[in-house]
Amino acid sequence: MGKKIFSGVQPTGNLHLGNYIGAIKNFVDLQNEKENECIYCVVDLHAITVKQDPKILKSNIRETTATFLASGIDPNKSIIFNQSLVPAHSEGSWILGCIARMGWLNRMTQFKEKAGKDKEKASVGLYIYPVLMTADILLYDASHVPVGEDQKQHLELSRDIAQKFNLDFNAPNFLRVPEPLIQKNFSRIMSLKDGTKKMSKSEASDLSRINLTDSKDQIVNKIRKAKTDTYPLPVDEKNLDQRPEVENLLGIYSSLNKQSLKDTINDFSGKNFSDFKEKLADLVVEKILPISNEINKLKKNNDYIDSILEKGGEKANKIASRKILEIKKILGF
Ligand code: TYM
Repeated sequence: MGKKIFSGVQPTGNLHLGNYIGAIKNFVDLQNEKENECIYCVVDLHAITVKQDPKILKSNIRETTATFLASGIDPNKSIIFNQSLVPAHSEGSWILGCIARMGWLNRMTQFKEKAGKDKEKASVGLYIYPVLMTADILLYDASHVPVGEDQKQHLELSRDIAQKFNLDFNAPNFLRVPEPLIQKNFSRIMSLKDGTKKMSKSEASDLSRINLTDSKDQIVNKIRKAKTDTYPLPVDEKNLDQRPEVENLLGIYSSLNKQSLKDTINDFSGKNFSDFKEKLADLVVEKILPISNEINKLKKNNDYIDSILEKGGEKANKIASRKILEIKKILGF
């Protein structure tokens, strides 16, 4: 039997190589496996947990959708929509917020990172963000959720919430407990400037990431300037964890070239960093530039993008509104 896939990406601009390797590339592979049913959501309700300029948000929703399409997600095979089109997400989030425990949410490391030192000033939405994410997943009875490593803890929370709901209301297996799909390797792509920090859209320096809309020159320049160290390229994986920047670049190469880290190390051992970086830049350009070009083309056609979201939204709404009705019945409403 095929898998029921659900995943989401925030429309906050600057989608990058980490999003692509950790998530979007896998969305495409899963879609192309026969029998899978895939739903990919532009999670605009999640985006407003931090302040957004409405005009920029609208443009980012379209750009994230364009990125899905340009990367190979096919609206004839997968449902593509933005979250705010389907009211059940907000409704489900409230209901599941009454199931989730404060203690569970207090453990979420991403909230601690994002809220920073001044937690009192973070929005309540940012705090309950993983509950909304849980509603996203459970409303569609998703069996599998492809994400990067940073979302693992949120998915564990989704599983706990589903199980508690089923137990509290004596409804065994009613909410499907989702399985995370996190790649064993390369599920955490790091900053090009600091191999101990993940590549992220919020990092101030644009040199820290390859954006999916970068030009060829930008890609080549960023890889040329990527941090390495003073030792030669490694001959094996031993002690590579103490060279995070080098490990990351070798990982990016391996992932995009669909080969193991070991094979990449063998391909480049004895060569110097400038040779490796040149080959890496060629590979990133080969894989990312067509996506970037297609995004830029699609961005000129808002009507087309909006029509994809609208059609996807209708399909999603049918599924999610049915599930929310069942949830309400169970609750006694
Ligand atoms: P978001 O928008 O931050 O990121 C989208 C996806 O990209 C992955 N990712 C990375 N993977 C590897 N290396 C990186 N440096 C890197 N940075 C980001 C993320 O793990 C994610 O898979 N809460 C989610 C969105 C969401 C969602 C959902 C996901 C909302 N509802 C339901 C799955 C199911 C988020 O903020 O992802």
